[in-house]
Amino acid sequence: MAPLHPKGRAMSHHNTPVARQRLTIPQLRARKGTEKLVLLTAYTAPMAALLDPYCDMLMVGDSLGMVVYGMDSTLPVTLEMMIAHGAAVVRSSTQASVVVDLPFGSYQASPQQAFEAAARVLKETGCAAVKLEGGSEMAETIRYLSTRGIPVMAHVGLMPQHQHVLGGFKAQGKDSEAYRTILNAARDVAEAGAFAVVLEGVMEPLAREITASITVPTIGIGASAACDGQVLVVDDMLGMFSTTPRFVKTYADLRGVIRDAVERYAREVREGYFPTAAQCYGVVAQDAAAMGKAAPLKRRKK
Ligand code: KIV
Repeated sequence: MAPLHPKGRAMSHHNTPVARQRLTIPQLRARKGTEKLVLLTAYTAPMAALLDPYCDMLMVGDSLGMVVYGMDSTLPVTLEMMIAHGAAVVRSSTQASVVVDLPFGSYQASPQQAFEAAARVLKETGCAAVKLEGGSEMAETIRYLSTRGIPVMAHVGLMPQHQHVLGGFKAQGKDSEAYRTILNAARDVAEAGAFAVVLEGVMEPLAREITASITVPTIGIGASAACDGQVLVVDDMLGMFSTTPRFVKTYADLRGVIRDAVERYAREVREGYFPTAAQCYGVVAQDAAAMGKAAPLKRRKK
């Protein structure tokens, strides 16, 4: 099946997106109300290169703690881990703007602490922006960073770094008090200078009201189509896990593809069908023609 034209993106006659310059933060911000924003997480160089032509922004989320490192939460993730993965994603992308998460404990203590962490992330990865979790209490920090040259993406609603306070991973904003708190949080962080606000796990009416009442784009994850853009954890949407949250749509079954490939490889190694002469160095021509069962290696005569 031919790839879908990424919306608003020029396509070559081979149906692939035409290379463009990296999207800037002001350009992203200006998309509000005109064009849906497409974001995915990326943690590694090869994945970043694959996603880059199709995404407006690549998000190096601290979800990498769970997705890449098998941790059971994002809390143990360090600044060094975020910088290493952020730099890999920036190196392997040329078009999408890259945002890197500030990990738990690297920014909550004070605006100054946040500035030091964020400045390191920008300097050492080459990314365009940082993301931090938190509502109205983080407004001062967001103002501090954004007035000092650091674009900030805010993140309200379900905040995985607050899992112990929130009591787990549950949709937020169900009762009227929580609704109001999240609405005010989104307004406060936007007013403080955030260039976009991630809404995670919030009810559709709340996402709709926030999106209508702030001037910067909202990026939803489990927050309905009312948002200005969407983000998903890439491994979730590619079907790398046996279970995914309800808000995820899986677009591929990579688990199945990988399992099948590895099973065939294991069988072929055990039964002597891999490697064949085609994959060997120093095999004489008639052996290379024997492509069925692996040809025994014969050394060339010196
Ligand atoms: O850590 C993460 O990956 C995220 C999002 C997907 C919003 O914060």
